[in-house]
Amino acid sequence: MSIFLALALITGQSATPTPQDALPQSAEAIDWDKEFGAEKRVADTVTGELPVDAYVQSEDNVGAKPFQGDALARALGGQAGIKAIVERLVELSKADPRIEAIFQNQDMVRLRRTLFEQICFIANAGCSYTGRDMKAAHKGLGITRADMNALVENLQRAMREQRVPFAAQNRLLAKLAPMERDIQER
Ligand code: HEM
Repeated sequence: MSIFLALALITGQSATPTPQDALPQSAEAIDWDKEFGAEKRVADTVTGELPVDAYVQSEDNVGAKPFQGDALARALGGQAGIKAIVERLVELSKADPRIEAIFQNQDMVRLRRTLFEQICFIANAGCSYTGRDMKAAHKGLGITRADMNALVENLQRAMREQRVPFAAQNRLLAKLAPMERDIQER
């Protein structure tokens, strides 16, 4: 006896399956964004970045007072050194089983650019910061203190690999630490 017939006998309903009963060919075929009415973000053809909600650009968004002299900028290896540190930080964090899930489906092109600008600006290495403030940038990511610690460990490793002196590493971390109150949500 077919399963439909058996069920029909039990429930007293028609044995003919309706279109709604038909299973989709494959779960991958479903465009959940479309089903949900969510807009697809399209990457900018020049920058490769995805659009974000409108925000007011201001250097206050950076979340820390920049250093005055150029000692930290030099210790970090100037803009080239900061770029290498940020690239490595993102690479380590995307492959870190403790936090990699948080980075999935996020705009890593934009993150690399704005994180570089942020550290460069704070270190007084000659950049301006054009990104969002830390609260807006991390809204809804559900970041915990443990996530924060994992990211800081990755940053320390990236700086160590670039031979940034320990004292300079700590100077930068001291500027970033207070941002935790705007980043941590859980
Ligand atoms: C002091 C620590 C941190 C700093 C300085 C920082 C800095 C930034 C910056 C500059 C942005 C981009 C802003 C923009 O798009 O306008 C950003 C976004 C992001 N951050 Fe952080 N972050 C920190 C901690 C963390 C932690 C702990 C995680 C997760 C473990 C994290 C995950 C992310 C993700 C996934 C985005 C992209 C969000 C999106 O594109 O909507 N961040 N962060």
